Amino acid sequence: MKKIALLGSTGSIGKSTMDIVARHPDQFKVTALAAGRNLEILSQQIKLFKPSLVSVHQQEDAQKLRQQFPAMPAEIVYGDEGVVAVACHPDADLVISAIVGAAGLRPTLAALKEGKNVALANKESLVIAGKIMTDEVRRHDKVILPIDSEHNAIFQVLRGNERDALKRILLTASGGPFFKRSLDELRGISVEEALKHPNWDMGAKITIDSATMMNKGLEVIEATWLFGVGADQIDVHIHPQSIVHSMVEFIDGSILAQLGVPDMRCAISYAMAYPQRIESGVESLNLFEVESLNFYKPDLKKFRCLYLAMEAVRVGASMPAVLNAANEIAVAAFLEKKIGFLDIAVVVEEAMLAHPIKDLITLDDVLEVDGWARRQAQDIIQKRGHS
Ligand SMILES: NC(=O)c1ccc[n+]([C@@H]2O[C@H](COP(=O)([O-])OP(=O)(O)OC[C@H]3O[C@@H](n4cnc5c(N)ncnc54)[C@H](OP(=O)(O)O)[C@@H]3O)[C@@H](O)[C@H]2O)c1
Repeated sequence: MKKIALLGSTGSIGKSTMDIVARHPDQFKVTALAAGRNLEILSQQIKLFKPSLVSVHQQEDAQKLRQQFPAMPAEIVYGDEGVVAVACHPDADLVISAIVGAAGLRPTLAALKEGKNVALANKESLVIAGKIMTDEVRRHDKVILPIDSEHNAIFQVLRGNERDALKRILLTASGGPFFKRSLDELRGISVEEALKHPNWDMGAKITIDSATMMNKGLEVIEATWLFGVGADQIDVHIHPQSIVHSMVEFIDGSILAQLGVPDMRCAISYAMAYPQRIESGVESLNLFEVESLNFYKPDLKKFRCLYLAMEAVRVGASMPAVLNAANEIAVAAFLEKKIGFLDIAVVVEEAMLAHPIKDLITLDDVLEVDGWARRQAQDIIQKRGHS
């Protein structure tokens, strides 16, 4: 029985993880849960999975839960320390890191420091603190199990192959809802339009990141840390069908791909059961009914966020952390209808241009740069006449 600590249980990845647990009660037990503010879903999960430790974001929500479940033996904690307690739960064999944004860094790093097995959906933590995290992984002789479908695909096809034989990673991208629109047409995009992803059902932040293609930029940075390759070894291709989840080219000219229907339970179940495979509830792909598989080069003028992410990885050091933090602020402002769709890239670029690069050695260094970039992005948004 694998005991799971799940960070971000009420989100899109969190709920899909719970679905896998429910399908395999003989193999998995949810020991600890961390969520933000969605008490409705969290309460249902507590009733169903009976974890021994639960964390919520705010103290008042912890009190509400205690009142709701007076007879429940679970300990209820809150705040940053609460999530870290869940991530470091002594019984947990596997920590699933599925909080959105930089908020996932502290607990994920704490789990790695404890020598836990970590399955990672929270790509932002690796983007902003890749060196610190991968140093911990090496120190404990572990691997990070990727949940992002592209990285999970690459992880699957690399298995059993020599790392030295890897030539190139071919990272696929759906292109989001707007890959066929012109730059001019992107100007007036509404929040509602941007939230309609053609293939994947995901949380709001990653859905907007997919529409701007910042998500693919973050994934390029994520892949450099996960697979020890340079950004020059990663090619991004828009593949609107989202069937080829990514590919790897080896030095002998062979290209191996992992395919499937777009359903995150495939990648999640692979990471959860690794090194085995289990039934995931994902329907079979009938490849012969798929009319075509198309691949296009992304237009970096149109998808400026992808260009900026490539610049951030080229500069390295603290720049990816600035890119990420400014993007989180800009996406939140777009979702609140304070800025337009194309302003997201403008805010990120201005924050990057204003940033004096520095090395990130400790978690405090990362948090300092993250805080600076957030304030900078807020200022830029205000100065542009939005508050
Ligand atoms: N969704 C996908 O298909 C997908 C695919 C690949 C990678 N990912 C990555 O997986 C991560 C999660 O994505 P998602 O789509 O599942 O996001 P989501 O649906 O927005 O869920 C985010 C989760 O994080 C929790 N959370 C947010 N801030 C928190 C905080 N400060 N403390 C504790 N919990 C907090 C939320 O809690 P409440 O809702 O209770 O407030 C929720 O459980 C992201 O890094 C994303 O890039 C997602």
